[in-house]
Amino acid sequence: MASTSTAPVLRNFIAGEWREPVSRQHLDNRNPADASQLVGRFPASGPEDADLAIAAAQEAYSTWRLTPAPRRAEILFRAGQILIQRKDAFAADMTREMGKVLLEARGDVQEAIDMLFFMAGEGRRLYGQTTPSELPNKMCMTTRVPLGVAALITPWNFPMAIPSWKSAPALLCGNTVVLKAAEDAPLSAVHWVEALTEAGLPAGVINLVLGRGEECGAPLVRDPRTRIVSFTGSTAVGREVGVEAARQFKHCNLEMGGKNAIIVLDDADLEMALDGCLWGAFGTTGQRCTATSRIIVQTGLYKKFIAAFVERVKTLRLGNGLHAHTQVGPLVNEEALQKVTGYVEIGRQEGARLECGGERAIVDDLRHGYFFNPTVFSDVSPTMRIAREEIFGPVVSVIPCSGLEDAIEIANAVEYGLSSALYTANVNAAFRALRDLDTGIVYVNAPTIGAEVHLPFGGTRNTGNGHRESGLATLDVYSEWKTLYVDYSGHLQRAQIDTGE
Ligand code: UN1
Repeated sequence: MASTSTAPVLRNFIAGEWREPVSRQHLDNRNPADASQLVGRFPASGPEDADLAIAAAQEAYSTWRLTPAPRRAEILFRAGQILIQRKDAFAADMTREMGKVLLEARGDVQEAIDMLFFMAGEGRRLYGQTTPSELPNKMCMTTRVPLGVAALITPWNFPMAIPSWKSAPALLCGNTVVLKAAEDAPLSAVHWVEALTEAGLPAGVINLVLGRGEECGAPLVRDPRTRIVSFTGSTAVGREVGVEAARQFKHCNLEMGGKNAIIVLDDADLEMALDGCLWGAFGTTGQRCTATSRIIVQTGLYKKFIAAFVERVKTLRLGNGLHAHTQVGPLVNEEALQKVTGYVEIGRQEGARLECGGERAIVDDLRHGYFFNPTVFSDVSPTMRIAREEIFGPVVSVIPCSGLEDAIEIANAVEYGLSSALYTANVNAAFRALRDLDTGIVYVNAPTIGAEVHLPFGGTRNTGNGHRESGLATLDVYSEWKTLYVDYSGHLQRAQIDTGE
């Protein structure tokens, strides 16, 4: 990383060196809490840079795949220790570049630490199976093998956690990596790669290209030398990534949109449900794939819930995420502000009742950033666009329901299936919901956000393509099974034929 007198100029990381993009073109990284603040400049990489990064990763693969997994794991472990030391500094930089409040930015770095330690432990397991053969004097076993170069395309909303979800298992399994990090959070990606490199990752094993998706991300997906593609982002882009990967039979993991619902039944602990809804809907300014975007409330509690909820929402303190009192940071950029504003207008036109918020926050210093007042719509019907489409901002729709069955039907009636939640004191209702909510993640008496790294993360239907990040399940994305047979009988034995009949 080189610095100018004004703001740092970031570089790509290719073959163990920090390099200028071939084009020498750069983009601005601005602070969404105050867009006049330039956090830094970063490469506007193109296909040439992607090509160099893939070549470096491919070269490094021949030795990395033969490095014992426990040794690979030790490097991940050391990177985790480095992140612990730099957690505060990295979190502050994250807040400056993408806006989330410091407490949450620290959580983001912590999630990367957790993932590194989890995968480091896996270095001495990475278990396969041994199983008897149907023939005498013969043994059978399976082992996980890497695939080659992994192209990892990550979003800005979890700038260190999501790169860690993808890179840690990719590296642990013996693949090499080209990471293409989001335009709104390049500095966190640089920090991530620095930590891995300082931990001892050899040159070329991880490479970083920064820039726009169409210019340096798409070439990674198209290039036949990348054998794994892992993408987190919109369903529209994910579909294109998936089609291209399928054409070339690449391993492909897609994590896409969400429209997550919390169901609150009449018998729920109201205080706990209010806390959960507030955190689920407005944590990270609603900019999580797992954010609570719908609250489905049973009619007996409906009015009381809305009154209490809106009262709390109005007390949320907006501001720069670096300030200790801030609870809700800005939206990430101008485009996000336009999108959220547009959805509020749609909600109004559809006839939903705007309870609070609904517009950009411009008081005092907030006018310099992309702040949007936390917004609650009530009397939303499940067919409205605000109840079906991903908004990715501080806007939540409250929908009435008659009971559990009705609630589950409403919850499932969207194209996405990432996360859902139920607040109830009734154990039977809880288990029915756990069974019938059609999402990859279901919570009881907790909001839709807050997944832990040692469990699978991902969603059904238009949220994913059947694979999972995190947990041990993610190993299936980053490795392939090899089945090994050893016949030590000293003569030909024919499976299915020499049965001893
Ligand atoms: C995302 O929303 O893109 O479960 C990731 C959570 C976090 C990760 C969210 N641990 O809310």
